[in-house]
Amino acid sequence: MSESPVIVKNLLKKYGEYIAVNEISFEIKKGQVFSLLGPNGAGKTTTVEILEGLRKRDGGEVSVLGLDPENSKEIYKKIGILPQDFTFVNNSTPKEAIEFYCKLFNRKLNPYELLDTVELRDRANVPFSKLSGGQKQKLGLALSLINDPEVLFLDEPTAGLDPKSRRNIWRIIENLKKEDRSILLTSHYLEEAELLADNVAIMNKGKIIDTGSPKELILRHRGKDLLYIKGGKYLEDVLEKIGAQFKNEDGYFILGLNDSKEAIEILNKIDEMGVPFDDFMIRRENLEDIFLKVTEE
Ligand SMILES: Nc1ncnc2c1ncn2[C@@H]1O[C@H](COP(=O)(O)OP(=O)(O)OP(=O)(O)O)[C@@H](O)[C@H]1O
Ligand SMILES: [Mg+2]
Repeated sequence: MSESPVIVKNLLKKYGEYIAVNEISFEIKKGQVFSLLGPNGAGKTTTVEILEGLRKRDGGEVSVLGLDPENSKEIYKKIGILPQDFTFVNNSTPKEAIEFYCKLFNRKLNPYELLDTVELRDRANVPFSKLSGGQKQKLGLALSLINDPEVLFLDEPTAGLDPKSRRNIWRIIENLKKEDRSILLTSHYLEEAELLADNVAIMNKGKIIDTGSPKELILRHRGKDLLYIKGGKYLEDVLEKIGAQFKNEDGYFILGLNDSKEAIEILNKIDEMGVPFDDFMIRRENLEDIFLKVTEE
């Protein structure tokens, strides 16, 4: 039986008296994407940087590929790191950055191939200071891959990226996962976690408040599906007449549904009463709704 590449048990980190990470535990299995989600200041970066060996912990146990990151230099040969707010030498170009990292890790790579992976070939010879925020981020991701890492720590890899670049990075992460790499991903884009993560831990004020697959979390916390209907002034009367419970928000009447068939029944009743409606939609709670719900509780 092989041990999980990342194991965290009762991890504790204080800054002075302030407890930033409060005895959290989790595991990342081989080939899994594990996503740490939480509001600003939840303790995500602190946790990730302890796993990367960049910060010291105050308690608990941490194992990355069987090593303790606090006392191991070996670890840097096996892990890839994309720090939050990645930055590099201002007058170096992406091509030079890759060549530099190749020397550091004793790797022979064609810089252009790696730049193609992150769609940055056309910026190969532009100084770092002149890259856009998203382009800097893409270079950071490229550099994190140079040593062919078994475990990747990606701290908000798509922060500030446009939708196309974000999707592009998602594709890269999906491919890395197919190559059996284990990935710790922090993100504020819940859609990203819902799409990519096998497991998610929702963190708030240093504690993990819930964990599971995105599907499990949604099933565990989700409320009723909601039917949104927009219509003229008679619609409200009709809804009252048929005994529907509803609220009014942003020009829509919103009704909770016991099952999706109920939506058809309600719309049919409105139609039968000869009242036109302009628009309707059914909304099911997603990971973002659940996240907001559990972090507010
Ligand atoms: N070096 C430090 N010294 C003192 N306090 C710190 C230090 N680094 C972080 N903190 C505090 O610890 C808490 C957790 O910070 P951390 O950066 O881990 O949060 P985060 O979840 O990554 O937030 P974000 O989503 O904004 O990146 C915050 O309240 C922060 O102010
Ligand atoms: Mg952070």
